[in-house]
Amino acid sequence: MGNTYTVKFNIYNQTTPVSVNVREGDTLLDAALDNNISLHHNCGAVCACSTCQVYIDHGMNTLPEISDAEEDFIDRAVAPKINSRLACQCIISGDVEVTIPDQSVHLGH
Ligand code: FES
Repeated sequence: MGNTYTVKFNIYNQTTPVSVNVREGDTLLDAALDNNISLHHNCGAVCACSTCQVYIDHGMNTLPEISDAEEDFIDRAVAPKINSRLACQCIISGDVEVTIPDQSVHLGH
């Protein structure tokens, strides 16, 4: 523990990406919220919704393997892609670059 990594967020409708430092063991959702980057998490980060969906542009191999539950919810997400992950399930242990899709399609927070 104690390592820090860089997460680069490419944000829908925002021209400039945002790079943040993240502690090993945090999730991608933590990384976004700790840095005031808006990312929905309607189920409270327990892998029971799909609103925290992001697309992994680089570093998929550093993330934990996808669980069956995560896969199920990605199937129900808005515009899922082959590189979709649920940010609350992605524990960071390396540098990652992700795209945050349009958040206006979700209600709640
Ligand atoms: S916040 Fe609901 S699955 Fe991530």
